[in-house]
Amino acid sequence: FGTMEINNKGHLEIGGCDSTNLVKEYQTPLYVIDEKHVRENCREFKDNFILEGVETEVIYASKAFLNIAICKLINEEKLSLDVVSGGELYTAIKSGFPAEKIYMHGNNKTEYELRMALESGVGRIIVDNSNELELLEYLCEKLDKNIDVLLRVNPGIEAHTHEYIQTSKNDSKFGESIFSNDIFNFIRKFQLSSRVSLKGFHCHIGSQIFEENFFHQGTLVMIDFMEKVKDECGFITEELNLGGGFGVYYSHEDEPINLEACLKGMLQLIKDKTSEIGVKVPKVMIEPGRAIVANSGITLYEVGGIKNTFGGRDYIFVDGGMTDNPRTALYGAKYDAVVANKMNQENENLYTVAGKCCESGDILVKDIELPKVERRDILGVMSTGAYNYSMSSNYNRIPRPAVVFVKDGEAKLTVKRETYEDIIRNDL
Ligand code: LLP
Repeated sequence: FGTMEINNKGHLEIGGCDSTNLVKEYQTPLYVIDEKHVRENCREFKDNFILEGVETEVIYASKAFLNIAICKLINEEKLSLDVVSGGELYTAIKSGFPAEKIYMHGNNKTEYELRMALESGVGRIIVDNSNELELLEYLCEKLDKNIDVLLRVNPGIEAHTHEYIQTSKNDSKFGESIFSNDIFNFIRKFQLSSRVSLKGFHCHIGSQIFEENFFHQGTLVMIDFMEKVKDECGFITEELNLGGGFGVYYSHEDEPINLEACLKGMLQLIKDKTSEIGVKVPKVMIEPGRAIVANSGITLYEVGGIKNTFGGRDYIFVDGGMTDNPRTALYGAKYDAVVANKMNQENENLYTVAGKCCESGDILVKDIELPKVERRDILGVMSTGAYNYSMSSNYNRIPRPAVVFVKDGEAKLTVKRETYEDIIRNDL
């Protein structure tokens, strides 16, 4: 997990910062992001997604974690950016992210969002369905703009992951199935368009996938599809975006993917297969989100109380919960946790970490061995960099925590803690 160490006081240090000092300065709950670790992850993707004779691009899926600071970091690391809403696009543009490196996604982009995308000059829009193509043509005409797009297709790969984050089953809401009867007619519509220029295809087979095999299967199915599209429509695929989904470690149950083998394997398959069947080698993109930020984040909480229930379960109550991390309640996600101010103490007891929301399902970690926990201890839940801050809510009118980036012993506040004033800001 990031650059984490135990210092001589027995405290957890993240990016060279003592977690107990971070808490004193910024209070709890607190999202802490290890900046160096995010940068290393960006480089790992860039360095491994290379093969001679294949042009490649790594795009960060910003839905995993987005604020102005991460946009700047991603730009410095020379990755492109995937956004799925007007709000994500707005954040990216406000951060100064180069619009031409932004990929605009979404299965139901509104007219307003498409207009924003066109006016801000995003590099690619990923078209999801034929209604969207019609709307886009209409807007391009009205605004006198041309746009390069990819078509999102569904390759029908059922990757083994949680049902709610599978995206590529045949009845998925995303994209057009490559097996549908209409797919070639749909592509012909693009070919007739004077404003909207189809560059290629996009697919995403799911999230938190551990087997390289699924990525390789997806790649092969897409190359096959490229060949069919060439034969049926005379369309040459110039760009192929294979999405994200690279699995990461959260708990001992997870065996993270071998990134190097997975990425290099995808590119090798593309190179070999395309030359075998005589189609042009496309530019290849991937869109990791979770794998860039998940293990770079930790959430620090203060313990308010411990309850030993009659039923035998011992609870630790923390001052956050499903409002800052809904993943346990939503997906049954598993997390590791530590007592950040007692890193050298032996585990003594089995606990369940519960939040402060008025809801029984507000559990962060079920059954975890920890040292004896007392009121005012600092609990750190690990690997919370992805889909935590970005999925946080104000349920029970709980303000969202602050986000700090840490690096080389320095902490930088990147999102202020919400206040009660923020909570009622839009109430009339
Ligand atoms: N590209 C597309 C088109 C996607 O739909 C997604 C994720 C990604 C890239 C990035 O996938 P990643 O590399 O992060 O796995 N909220 C869920 C995850 C939903 C992912 C949705 N799409 C969670 O907390 O597990």
